[in-house]
Amino acid sequence: MMGFLIFLLLSVFFFSQGYAQEPETYFRYKEPQFLYEEKCSKCHTLERVFAEPKTEDEWRICVSLMRKKNKFWITEKEGKRIVDEIIGIRKDRVGPFPQKKKYEDAQLLFIDRCTKCHTVIRILNKDRTREEWEETVLRMRDNAPELFLEEDIPTLIEYLVERGRIMRDDVAAQMMVEKCIICHEYDRILLVQKSKEDWAKCITDMRTEARERLKKDWFTRDEFKLIIDLLVKTQGIEESHSP
Ligand code: HEC
Ligand code: HEC
Ligand code: HEC
Repeated sequence: MMGFLIFLLLSVFFFSQGYAQEPETYFRYKEPQFLYEEKCSKCHTLERVFAEPKTEDEWRICVSLMRKKNKFWITEKEGKRIVDEIIGIRKDRVGPFPQKKKYEDAQLLFIDRCTKCHTVIRILNKDRTREEWEETVLRMRDNAPELFLEEDIPTLIEYLVERGRIMRDDVAAQMMVEKCIICHEYDRILLVQKSKEDWAKCITDMRTEARERLKKDWFTRDEFKLIIDLLVKTQGIEESHSP
């Protein structure tokens, strides 16, 4: 018995020595290095978070707004730490952002002109190139020329080219909050990873679940696609290629 224990201790010792000589991360699952990587990458991508710079004050306001989206997911203390991390580490993203006003004005114009006949999600459903956006906007203008001024057209096209993807991320994030987290403890959703196929299956179940409990259709087809796209980006795993 004693012999076995000593053997065990020795082998643990040698194993740990051997292990220590390996490169640091060799055996290990790569932990997120910063808190924001984990906490800010679930309802939207980190790419969205850092899409444009903000001043220190704006980051503080932003993080406190994000905490309110789900109070249990980011505590006050964690919020403070995240602000410190961003201000200290992501210096490239701290500062004034002069284009903001221009985008805000263009967004108002877009909402006013383009959401009269259908939802935003219908419009943002897929990535389009500049040429495709030009074609779409002109085609839509021809549907109702009286709604559009000539000078609106280039503004709308430019806005969609530059901000289409970003706006889609925001809409998907909103859906995550309003259409998923509403029914769930955060850990049921935000800590789960699935393949694209499994997410599609899961959301189909959720659709049925919601129809039974809330007595209404919870996702349109476009929303369904949008939320799966988001989940695959933020909480996806490679398809398993089991035979
Ligand atoms: C529970 C979901 C959720 C979490 C967690 C979350 N966000 Fe958001 N985020 C949203 C939603 C929804 C939007 C879309 C715009 C809106 O509704 O405010 C958004 C938009 C944003 C934007 C773009 C709008 C802006 O203010 O410039 C930034 C930047 C952002 N989030 C940063 C963060 C950061 C930093 C964290 C981590 C501290 C975080 N988000 C965590 C839901 C979330
Ligand atoms: C007068 C009503 C009306 C307005 C205003 C309108 N649309 Fe549409 N839109 C439609 C109709 C009808 C369809 C479906 C028929 C079609 O595809 O042309 C549609 C479909 C779409 C589609 C999906 C079809 C495709 O092209 O892939 C997109 C994207 C779109 N609209 C974008 C826009 C944008 C961007 C604006 C603002 C510049 C806009 N719409 C304004 C009526 C409108
Ligand atoms: C009407 C309420 C409701 C809505 C809305 C809802 N869920 Fe669910 N969800 C449930 C219930 C109830 C369960 C438990 C079902 C079970 O355990 O079989 C569940 C279970 C889950 C699970 C764990 C089971 C699994 O398949 O891994 C995940 C993940 C999940 N939901 C994700 C989501 C996502 C993502 C959304 C938004 C697209 C969402 N849910 C919207 C009620 C809801």
